[in-house]
Amino acid sequence: MTRLPRKIIIDTDPGQDDAVAILLALASPEDIEVLGLTAVAGNVPLALTERNTRIICELAGKPEALVFAGCDAPLKRRLVTAEHVHGQTGLDGPQLADPVMPLQAQHGVDFIIDTLRQQPEKTVTLCPLGPLTNIAAAFLKAPDIVDRVQEIVLMGGAYFEVGNITPAAEFNIYVDPEAAEIVFRSGVPIVVMPLDVTHKALTTRPRIEAFRAMGTEPGRMVAEWTDFFERFDMQKYGSEGAPLHDPCVIAWLIRPELFSGRHINVEIEVQSDLTRGMTVADWWGVTDRPANALFIGDLDAAGFFELLTERIARL
Ligand code: BDR
Ligand code: CA
Repeated sequence: MTRLPRKIIIDTDPGQDDAVAILLALASPEDIEVLGLTAVAGNVPLALTERNTRIICELAGKPEALVFAGCDAPLKRRLVTAEHVHGQTGLDGPQLADPVMPLQAQHGVDFIIDTLRQQPEKTVTLCPLGPLTNIAAAFLKAPDIVDRVQEIVLMGGAYFEVGNITPAAEFNIYVDPEAAEIVFRSGVPIVVMPLDVTHKALTTRPRIEAFRAMGTEPGRMVAEWTDFFERFDMQKYGSEGAPLHDPCVIAWLIRPELFSGRHINVEIEVQSDLTRGMTVADWWGVTDRPANALFIGDLDAAGFFELLTERIARL
């Protein structure tokens, strides 16, 4: 039986791992139709994330993709960035030329709203790869769209791995916890790729060399990005390689059977200075709070990298 490609909006703050996620989506037209990409402030400020998103679309050979700039700061807080992980540009590693393709004039939040109103109900999936500011801003501005979303598949949070930007919080949720709270309480079906799973999607020397061996520009870029990105997590965790966090979101849309998790309740800590942005995930079912998310805990890493190399090699 042929399956129609799933319509998605990618909401992103590139970031080397965001870049690999976007390349995977754009290389998979039989599975995924990318309606547009909305940039958000996160790993680096918005002026860089929207630029980086355009660079990545051009690298994928898709200059016709629609790229929008969204929010330049979290809903209620000052922006926290992660140049210490991703470098000053957010895409440090290889030399990158300025993009030529245009940035769309419309605000990213309005694009999300208009798209959800125009497309048939529950046919559009939102894929946030950064702080949840744009998604929450759209839900606040146009509450009628909330019930029209098919699903939200996001990278963020942690339970067993706890935190990477503070001892208690993962970066994407920490940067805009109020936005995360709105999303997790929205009632939209949510799939979460927390650090618990993304820390198992680790690059290794042979996996990186497989990208380089493609002999293509995207293959070389992915190898150089992961080379750059790797040093940080190897120093911090002593891990074998770098976690490809954000590509887990796109891989789940294509091959959900590579992943496993639990339907559980997830609440966001927004009050405490000590644990702000913590995803309080009821993995063990110790409360009566209703499940609001499929919280992923494990993946078939070999299958995940097979998929990535097969698809990136097409570009
Ligand atoms: C998340 O934060 C960013 O640094 C990555 O791009 C990923 O989305 C991991 O905590
Ligand atoms: Ca990201």
